[in-house]
Amino acid sequence: MAIHTISRTEFHDLVYNNTAAFMAAIEANEGYIVKNYYPREKCIALREQVLEINAHSDPSWHPCLDGVPDYHRINDEYPKSWVKARTHTYYFHHFNNTAIVDDFRDIFEIKNYLAGEPKTAHITNQPSDGLISRVLVVQYPRGGGYLAEHADPNSKFALIQTLIQMSDYGEDYKTGGLYIRPDEAAPPVMIDPLAEMGDLMVLSPGVAHGVSPVDAEQSIDWNSRDGRWIILPLILRSDYNMDVNTKPKQLSDQQ
Ligand SMILES: [Fe+2]
Repeated sequence: MAIHTISRTEFHDLVYNNTAAFMAAIEANEGYIVKNYYPREKCIALREQVLEINAHSDPSWHPCLDGVPDYHRINDEYPKSWVKARTHTYYFHHFNNTAIVDDFRDIFEIKNYLAGEPKTAHITNQPSDGLISRVLVVQYPRGGGYLAEHADPNSKFALIQTLIQMSDYGEDYKTGGLYIRPDEAAPPVMIDPLAEMGDLMVLSPGVAHGVSPVDAEQSIDWNSRDGRWIILPLILRSDYNMDVNTKPKQLSDQQ
């Protein structure tokens, strides 16, 4: 099992010009840390933007149907979640916030390319088109933000998982964070210490993974500015086109 640290140019070259080798490495549960994928200033600005949203609007939830607004939601171990979690998530759609989604076009294009689709497919879709592109900004607050261990089924549009580190490990939080467990019998591999703010982490969706509780000994504050922050650009089925087989599967209660 290896985690490779590479540049953005090297990553794009690998994906587009050496696709078979790249996918073979992903399927072997190797991972990539792509340095400085999204500028640090942009990470900081996006964090400020979502903190403003939190300051001025209440959390809510909306099904993924036409007219869905951009919204933010606190999941405090909501019992119906596919995977148990303690997270605060902000949802952005191209039809509501073109600028945020367009900032991650390179990632959507890679996902489309790997799916054998035109590079710009689905980016501007509406939910009634069946598939949509969405950008999630997730805060795992200090005081135990976590995501239980799970695997994500690798649907055509999720052959790789792509996460952008949006916080400073050791500064915004000191313990916990993303891990993968490529071998059931082996201890987990902690990923966050390998990635700085702005780095893109690329992993197999099928490898067992989770987020171990962030600074569990502290008390939780849902309005805090720190903690672990991550950006997830996703292509997913809308609720007109729901398929439970494409949802993540929790593997254990382990935090
Ligand atoms: Fe996952």
